[in-house]
Amino acid sequence: MKGLILSGGKGTRMRPLTHTSAKQLIPVANKPVLAYGIEAIVAAGIEDIGIIVSPETGDEIRECVKDGARFRANVTYIKQDAPRGLAHAVLTAESFLRDSPFVMYLGDNLLQHGITPLVEEYRSLNCNSEILLTKVPNPSQFGVAELSSEGRVVKLTEKPQHPKSDLALVGVYMFDENIFDAAKAIKPSKRGELEITDAIQWLLDHDFTVHPHIVKGWWKDTGKIEDMLEANRTVLDTFERDVRGKIETSSAIEGKVVIEDGAEIVDSVVRGPAIIGSGARVVHAYVGPYTSIGNGCSLEYCEIENSIVLENSTIAHVDGRIEASLIGKNVKICRTHRKPAAYRFMLGDNSEVGIT
Ligand code: TTP
Repeated sequence: MKGLILSGGKGTRMRPLTHTSAKQLIPVANKPVLAYGIEAIVAAGIEDIGIIVSPETGDEIRECVKDGARFRANVTYIKQDAPRGLAHAVLTAESFLRDSPFVMYLGDNLLQHGITPLVEEYRSLNCNSEILLTKVPNPSQFGVAELSSEGRVVKLTEKPQHPKSDLALVGVYMFDENIFDAAKAIKPSKRGELEITDAIQWLLDHDFTVHPHIVKGWWKDTGKIEDMLEANRTVLDTFERDVRGKIETSSAIEGKVVIEDGAEIVDSVVRGPAIIGSGARVVHAYVGPYTSIGNGCSLEYCEIENSIVLENSTIAHVDGRIEASLIGKNVKICRTHRKPAAYRFMLGDNSEVGIT
């Protein structure tokens, strides 16, 4: 079997970070979301992985994952000219996937228990496709599956106004070669994309077998900032305490905290679950629960919790606590003594700043 990770797309809901960087490389607990997907596929015994990339973010993804050896994977990059839909991405990868059934994994998704049970079930069932479903409170925001009383998939609908079930499609799918005929047969949807739900519906309508697998454990789609912070909280909660960096005696490191090699904590409180990346400096600061501080960051005289700070950013002398924030790379949030005393911003398009 092969793996296909979809790591193209526009990432409009994660702007401005996605103006300069791929959404799939935003870290959750200091590890790019994409890495969780690669690890899940490799853990299921699949080494040959194709990664769909966009023309804009392909180089950055390539630089991060390289040939995949560090994950024990053999990675091939497949460029999708534009984000024309998940089924279009499958067609783009046809020559890579033709000779083998495959698992398709959305590069911004995270699953607590990985995909090994799904892949094993698909291998044993001999069906044409298998889809992963989970109960959600707000099905109209997802692709929704309707099952028959015997548990067979009857119908899939993309973001229905009046959902017939609360079973949403999770971003992991198994397919054999029939999906290519399906993706070629369907037409773009109202939003102009070739929808994977339409392609799977085509399989159902043409008597191919689509097996539903209800996911156990949590599943996170990190498409928006709230989802990203929730994924960060969920993953940090699974961590064990591991303190390696340099801790000045006056500091308090409380609970499940990971402090990586080369990090330095001076006169500060770090209250877990939290992670401080290597080379980061935390001085006279408070890092509260559910916070990930990236490599090389500098925090001085500030308080932060329930947030993600990407590498090499600086937060210094900020009154009031920062929370529920996602701060990009090389960002500076500092107090200045310039006159007139005023807020001074240089923010990218679509930035958001909340001031009390
Ligand atoms: P989405 O989150 O549905 O789309 P997006 O990444 O463009 O984000 P937004 O809606 O905020 O603009 O995509 C799910 C995953 O699939 C994500 O990792 C991007 C990837 N993808 C592709 O690789 N090609 C595509 O054509 C599309 C639509 C998505």
